[in-house]
Amino acid sequence: MRTPRSRALFERATRSLPGGSTRTTVYGAPYPPYLVEGDGLRVRDADGNEYRDFLGNYTALILGHAHPAVVAAVTAQVRRGSAFGAPTEVEVELAEELCRRMPSLERLRFTASGTEATMFALRAARAFTGRDLVARFERAYHGTHDVAMAGTPGVPLALRGSVVELPWGDPEGVARALAGRERDVAAIIIEPVQGAGGIRAAEPAFLAYLRELADRSGALLIFDEIISFRVGPGGVQERVGVRPDLTTLGKIIGGGYPLAAFGGRAAVMEQFDARRGGGLSHGGTYNGAPVAAAAGLATLGELTPPRYVELDRRGARLREAVARGFSAGSGGSRIEGVASLFQVWAGGSAVAPAGREPSEFWLGLLLDGFYLAPRGMGALATPATDRDVDELAAAILRRARVGETIPA
Ligand SMILES: Cc1ncc(COP(=O)(O)O)c(C=O)c1O
Repeated sequence: MRTPRSRALFERATRSLPGGSTRTTVYGAPYPPYLVEGDGLRVRDADGNEYRDFLGNYTALILGHAHPAVVAAVTAQVRRGSAFGAPTEVEVELAEELCRRMPSLERLRFTASGTEATMFALRAARAFTGRDLVARFERAYHGTHDVAMAGTPGVPLALRGSVVELPWGDPEGVARALAGRERDVAAIIIEPVQGAGGIRAAEPAFLAYLRELADRSGALLIFDEIISFRVGPGGVQERVGVRPDLTTLGKIIGGGYPLAAFGGRAAVMEQFDARRGGGLSHGGTYNGAPVAAAAGLATLGELTPPRYVELDRRGARLREAVARGFSAGSGGSRIEGVASLFQVWAGGSAVAPAGREPSEFWLGLLLDGFYLAPRGMGALATPATDRDVDELAAAILRRARVGETIPA
């Protein structure tokens, strides 16, 4: 009743977009609110309802909406030109800043999306090792290219044999899954904090085990830090002290604009060096696009060490408040997460985004003026205050339904 314009927009959208949507993850039954503007933590929908945004375009908007530094950088760049068929200085500056923050990035390349970043990282690993097999984890999400989606409709069946799925956090299970095939593995790719699979952080010891395994077997270790880069200035790899061969980045490095990257060991990345014959081709009309690079650079410029400490503290504050409430009697509901990332497992929320069934939890939070992913995932942005976090915790506890089956 509060969203007639969103409903009308959705019905109109179904006539030009399948299911009324152009992005699987932003659909929530019966229809999502259409957002028209955002400022800091606040977003407004087409009917004028206001929400506090604890999703931030699926963790990309770590400074919130329309941060003045980002708007200024983007506006200045747009005036100079949106993109050229030529490299620009701003892409070099962003590359240097990323290499400075993450020493494992000896060289990197920009892409327009995280999907392309993991696709090229895996391709680079296969070309470098001369092997085909990719090892990835159960519940992993690395985007939508064929290898990342092997085993789903429309992806060649043959690709199934090029991907092996590993159990999470279980060295013995990993060894069993790879038995006899260790030397066929081109890359072991892992999200150090799983995102779409429900926010869960890998144990540092498990990441160290994967490092050893990769060294022993000659595979490359790839950290997909597209979401987890936001946990600290140098991502999870800095926090746990494990150095991958390649890393993929996205989300916050574009400051809210489409930009992602893959990079790592110079020897691997030099396959893309156009000055060498026979290397890997990596075109892309919007690779390192200057508007997005300017936004990313401005965003990283705001992300000083104390900012991360504050995000960590507020994330912990939220999780502790919700966990306290859940332990006081909300059935099997629980909250997980790390740093500024969280995932609520409540009645009606599931690993897969809500399909036909509306999630009462998600809709209840919308009614309370909180915007999260339909599947119960969220992320804090720097404009969120202690009060915002406390009020979100109270709403989560109020809206989580008791006694439903919670996925393991
Ligand atoms: C860990 C991870 N890898 C890859 C991707 C794909 O990135 P994009 O949506 O920019 O293609 C995502 C997106 O959510 C992600 O979370």
